[in-house]
Amino acid sequence: MATSLRYPGKVVIVTGGTSGIGLAIVREFVHEGSKVVFCSPESDAEKGQEIQRELQASGCPGDACYQVCDVRNESEIKKLICVTIERYGCLDCLVNNAGSSWGKTIDDTTAQDFRDLMELNAMSCFLASKYALPYLRGTKGNIINVASLVSVIGKRKRFPYAATKGAVTAMTKALAIDESHYRVRVNSISPGHIWTPLGEKLVNQSPNPEATKQEIRDNQLLGRYGTPEEVASAALYLAADGTFCTGLNLVVSGGAEVGFGKKSEGEPKPKQRAGGNSKGFSSKQ
Ligand SMILES: NC(=O)c1ccc[n+]([C@@H]2O[C@H](COP(=O)([O-])OP(=O)(O)OC[C@H]3O[C@@H](n4cnc5c(N)ncnc54)[C@H](O)[C@@H]3O)[C@@H](O)[C@H]2O)c1
Repeated sequence: MATSLRYPGKVVIVTGGTSGIGLAIVREFVHEGSKVVFCSPESDAEKGQEIQRELQASGCPGDACYQVCDVRNESEIKKLICVTIERYGCLDCLVNNAGSSWGKTIDDTTAQDFRDLMELNAMSCFLASKYALPYLRGTKGNIINVASLVSVIGKRKRFPYAATKGAVTAMTKALAIDESHYRVRVNSISPGHIWTPLGEKLVNQSPNPEATKQEIRDNQLLGRYGTPEEVASAALYLAADGTFCTGLNLVVSGGAEVGFGKKSEGEPKPKQRAGGNSKGFSSKQ
């Protein structure tokens, strides 16, 4: 029987599927007939179970199954893959979406801050891919890593975040080479400014959230934030239609990176710290 569904019967894992971009990806794939296992840390479990119930009751052609999994924990990632295989028997697509961001200068960033963000944003992609690949090779499936436009063009006070996402886009290309042998495709999506709970939290940390929000809208040629659903469409494209795409970093940014614009903030004012010199460190450190 002919079907108009775009990814019917396919088994998909989405990490961080209870909010923002991940949640939109879960919904998109379930609507297109996929069987989706999605996760979050324990703190979000109630929300995850509610989303599962809502999608299962909605009459959507696919299926949704929530699992607790903190992607910083290797044994929880292994369990996520095992549960998926036990429930659905195979795996066609892994979407590494879980991640976070914060803004600090290098002076205010500790080594542990950097390690923690690297573990959440980049190490998690490595671990989930490592344990999913034995199954993805069996189906000639694909991996989609959610990176960021910041990994391509940088952003003020986002240098650790840019580094973690740069690791993700670099890993995507290198893994695409190795896995081409098994006909597994590996791609990334680099969203620009997308209006999600994370985006809202970051805006609300600024002194004037409304002005910051408008400034961010003006960063795009299209004069607005992107929506999680627009990123989800890109993910569905890569999984279902982009069958000749591998090693690709698909930028979904409203044109934020296009064209010349104001970049310089002028000369920095020297900062004098108690007991230190103008570079901010003392000989005792
Ligand atoms: N919002 C943007 O503008 C934007 C832009 C570029 C890239 N991104 C990336 O998109 C992804 C999703 O961001 P978002 O804006 O939807 O964020 P969000 O905070 O709205 O959602 C994040 C999701 O990840 C989950 N998560 C967080 N820590 C986790 C952990 N340790 N283990 C498992 N799940 C975890 C949360 O439970 C949630 O479901 C992130 O990787 C982010 O870096 C977002």
